[in-house]
Amino acid sequence: MNDEIAAMASTETLAGPDRYAVFGNPISHSRSPAIHRMFASQTGQAISYEKRLAPLDGFAAAVDAYRLEGGRGCNVTVPFKLDAARYATALSQRARAAGAVNTLRFDADGGCYGDNTDGAGLVADLTQRLGLDLAGARVALLGAGGAARGVVLPLLDAGVESLLIVNRTAARALELASLAGDARVVGAGLDALGEATASVVINATSAGLDGSALALPASLWDRVELAYDMVYGRKPTAFMCEATQRACPRVADGLGMLVEQAAESFLLWRGVRPQTAPVYQALRVAIDAGH
Ligand code: ATR
Repeated sequence: MNDEIAAMASTETLAGPDRYAVFGNPISHSRSPAIHRMFASQTGQAISYEKRLAPLDGFAAAVDAYRLEGGRGCNVTVPFKLDAARYATALSQRARAAGAVNTLRFDADGGCYGDNTDGAGLVADLTQRLGLDLAGARVALLGAGGAARGVVLPLLDAGVESLLIVNRTAARALELASLAGDARVVGAGLDALGEATASVVINATSAGLDGSALALPASLWDRVELAYDMVYGRKPTAFMCEATQRACPRVADGLGMLVEQAAESFLLWRGVRPQTAPVYQALRVAIDAGH
C-alpha cells in the first residue's frame, strides 16, 4: 500500500485542483469545507475540499483509499484524532504533546505528517480576535479529555502564568497536569474551582452537549475576565449562559477557534496563511441565520 501511495503522490500529472477532505463520524455537520473553500478563494489556491464519513472501525483504510484517489491531506475530527496520530509516520511536537492529530499531510515520498492545530487555533482566537494578553493570565481549563489535552502545550507556550486543569474525574486532570511537566500546571477535581483565582475560564468538557450543566461555584466568577467555550452553535451553551448570569465581562464560543485551527491546517498544506476575520464573520452570519 505504501509504495502505491508513494507512486500516486509523486505523479505530477493529476488533473484538477489539489484535493483535501475532513474525516469524521458523524461528519454531515462539518463546516470545514465552507471554511477551506473561503480560504482557497481568498488566497487564489486551487484546492477542493470535501467531507468523508469513515466507518468507526475503518479510519486507516478510508484514508488509504483517499490517498490512492489523489488526496493531498485531510483534517480529522471526532472520533478519529487518536487513530490519526497512529496513522501518521511523523508527528509535530504539539501533536505528540496532545496525543492526537487533527491535520494530516500526505507527502511525495509516501510519508504522512501529523499535526494538531487545535491549541494554536485557540491561542490565536484568544489573542488576536479577542485581544487577550495570555502572558500573565491565570487560566482554569475545565475538562481533561481529548479537547483539553490538545490545548495544554499551546497555552503554556503562550506564556500563561498558571494553568489549573480541573475535571469531574480528578485523576484524569492530575494525569494531564503531570504529563505537561511544567510547574505552572496543577490538576484537580472540580471542587478546586472554589479556591481558584482564574482570569480566564475555558470549557473543554462535553458537558452541555447532552444537556447537562457543570456545577461551578459562584466564587469562580469573581475575577474572571473571559469565559470561553470550545464548542459553538447558534445558541449560547449552558456554560456561556452561566458566565453571562454571573456578569462575566466577556463570553465567547469556539467558532473562532474552529476558523483559526483551519487556517493553521491550510498553512501546513499550502504554505499560505489565510485571513480569518472575514471567514469568521461569514460563518457567524450563516449560523445566526440558521444555516
Ligand atoms: P473530548 O474529546 O470532547 O474532550 P472526552 O475525551 O470524552 O471528549 O472528554 C469529555 C470531557 O468532558 C471529560 O473531561 C469529562 O469528564 P470525565 O473525565 O470526568 O468523564 C467531561 N464531562 C463530560 N460530561 C460532563 C459532565 N456532565 N460534568 C462534568 N464533566 C463532564
